[in-house]
Amino acid sequence: MKLLIFCDPGIDDAMALIYALLHPEIDVLGLVCSYGNVDKFTAAHNAAHILHLAGRMDIPIFNGAEMPVTGELATYYPEIHGDGGIGPIKVTKGDYQFRIRNLGEVFDLIETNDDLVIADLGRSTTLATCFLLNREAMGLVKELHIMGGAFMVPGNVTPVAEANFYGDPTSANLLLAHGKKVILTPLNVTQKAIITNDYAKALQYYTENKFKDMYLPIIKYYADAYTKLVPGMDGAPFHDLLTIYSAVHPKRMQYLAKKVHVVVEGKTRGKSFADFRHMDSDQESKHHIALGFDYDHFLQEVFQVLTRPI
Ligand code: RIB
Ligand code: CA
Repeated sequence: MKLLIFCDPGIDDAMALIYALLHPEIDVLGLVCSYGNVDKFTAAHNAAHILHLAGRMDIPIFNGAEMPVTGELATYYPEIHGDGGIGPIKVTKGDYQFRIRNLGEVFDLIETNDDLVIADLGRSTTLATCFLLNREAMGLVKELHIMGGAFMVPGNVTPVAEANFYGDPTSANLLLAHGKKVILTPLNVTQKAIITNDYAKALQYYTENKFKDMYLPIIKYYADAYTKLVPGMDGAPFHDLLTIYSAVHPKRMQYLAKKVHVVVEGKTRGKSFADFRHMDSDQESKHHIALGFDYDHFLQEVFQVLTRPI
């Protein structure tokens, strides 16, 4: 699978990137880094750190948005991801030689790669901007896999909204309106994609690649943050990792086709909703909401991939 990833690393983004880079069936063509968990430059440097460890500095990093379309300044989440975005790991600007490419250059990738799949792991602003800039090229993209939304379950930034859709609901609606096929991994499933500290210890023990010393500290950092939010929780949900997993393992997921909308303002801003009553028109919906997945397979397969020698 040829994959272009929009991201804001972020600990769960970082694990998703590592999984994609190590996966034998995924060919990562580029990373687009935007505001979200951290500012966009920090996100790009964190992405470069991961590419460096994977020995894949040949993969281009593209410039993403630094705020939502409302023009509000972005809110970051150091209490969950750490000041630098990947927990205790500090990436200093200047550590790596790389050029952040203009967003417009991403269309060369899209136009020259058939069956390209996009995963959007952060706020929807940059991907929506791609539709604003070149809708024709975006029509060539086979599938959009989006981490976002929460359907009839609690949100994670407000009682009803998930962080990515809350951050820029207008852009999220644009993706839903214009994406050819839009596959959502909302909190309904990502909150259940939990990785525990014991799993992280086993990862560190069995890993034979350059990420060996990274897994345990970042997973522990993220899990400690979640334990403060949800006392008693063992580990933490790896939202973005599940999104990439779902793109390669659609048969391990349960989807419901429903037309989805996101509330753009007011107290329920960012809330995603769909009509869950039976509708004959659902069959034609191009939106697919993940509502279940094979957790045991997720744990096993992710472990296999993350421990692979490079
Ligand atoms: O709500 C979870 C999402 O918000 C994840 O993508 C996480 O990385 C943050 O961006
Ligand atoms: Ca993210």
